[in-house]
Amino acid sequence: MIWHPYTIQLDSDPPLKIVSAKEEFLFDENGKEYIDGISSWWVSIHGHNHPKMVAAVQEQANQLDHVLLAGFTHPPALELAHELLEFAGWNFHKVVYSDNGSTALEIMLKIALQFFRNQGMEKKKVFVTFSGSYHGDTIGAMSVGGDSVFNRVFQSLLFPTRHFPSPACHDCPVGKVPHSCTEDCLDELEAYLSGHSEEVVGVLLEPLIAGVGGMLFHKPAVLSRLREITKRYGVLLLLDEVFTGFGRTGYNFAFQSAGIQPDMIALAKGLTAGALPLAATLVREEIYREFVSADPLKAFFHGHTMTGYPGGCAAALASLRIFKEENRLGDVKILESYMEEGWAKLRSEFPDKIKNVRVLGAVGVGELFTGKEEPGYISSFAREFKRLCLDRGVILRPLGNVIYITPPYNISKASLQKIFQAIREALAYYKVPD
Ligand SMILES: Cc1ncc(COP(=O)(O)O)c(C=O)c1O
Repeated sequence: MIWHPYTIQLDSDPPLKIVSAKEEFLFDENGKEYIDGISSWWVSIHGHNHPKMVAAVQEQANQLDHVLLAGFTHPPALELAHELLEFAGWNFHKVVYSDNGSTALEIMLKIALQFFRNQGMEKKKVFVTFSGSYHGDTIGAMSVGGDSVFNRVFQSLLFPTRHFPSPACHDCPVGKVPHSCTEDCLDELEAYLSGHSEEVVGVLLEPLIAGVGGMLFHKPAVLSRLREITKRYGVLLLLDEVFTGFGRTGYNFAFQSAGIQPDMIALAKGLTAGALPLAATLVREEIYREFVSADPLKAFFHGHTMTGYPGGCAAALASLRIFKEENRLGDVKILESYMEEGWAKLRSEFPDKIKNVRVLGAVGVGELFTGKEEPGYISSFAREFKRLCLDRGVILRPLGNVIYITPPYNISKASLQKIFQAIREALAYYKVPD
């Protein structure tokens, strides 16, 4: 009866029925335990069913279920807006709530375009994006994503954007090595902006790591240079922190690694640590000011029914409290060093099978050698690999030939070792194609 997401209807294993969860573990209907090595699509940053999260959601359900956010407000939405702005270092002025990463992105794109429209700048309509990026599955979010199996069939519905190669330091698109790099991968983009700035609304990037596109890492210096050139040419810097936000890269938000101030950021996933759906777009004061008008045509007309859902806000507030009370960024540091150790060991055990090992914060990655390149989401070994790990009680979902671990930040060392052991055993089955 359920049409499951990302599921090839005639060629997929039946879904595994999960009935309960605790910490980094999920349990199926037979009581078998699985370590959630990907935090259930990168959300369960404190582990599953954290008692403080559960209590906060229960308490909110007893107090206020829901009220529309147009013409009304409520304490959890107000308090969360303040806490989020503080967590983001007071770089932003307004919080726009929504329900998931795609809608947070759509809102960011629409505010960006209208910011210029409200100033009479009609020509600005182009978004600059990157080839390996992913921003969600709605039409606007697909338009600004890189070409992939996710959006190819919908090409005729998507609005045009200007794509540039993704900055990816382990596989530099312009052939540089770290010590000679001066963010040369952005030269072409800068040349484009210098000639087309009157048409460009903004540059959109997943900061530090492009996730779905293959866990492509870049240096904070890329963010600094992007900020500098976007400012110079009068275009906005829009960051998609849906994956990288809330400690995933070792910072509250990835943009803080470069000490820059983006114009807007989009947040979801770790925002509620997986307890309930909620998303937010954080907006700088200079952007917001262009909407402060009595003219209805200058208002931002966008609002989902469940926008600012009190339970979601209460969950997000509880998660931010846990960050402080349990020193979650400290956990990420420890996890980062364990992952560096684990991946280095795997790399040395399988020098002919694993390459481009890289770790940042709570993201650890290794790529399989593929004789004939078979990257992409629908790679056949990715599915086999997933199955082999599941048999060993570990949940991982490689992106083509890219194997990654994105566990809860407070995963135990023993569980992490089990994940590495499952990868080790699955790799034994892998034969690099000729
Ligand atoms: C960077 C990024 N942006 C946006 C999205 C879309 O988020 P959602 O699936 O909540 O719509 C994702 C989802 O994986 C993502 O990784």
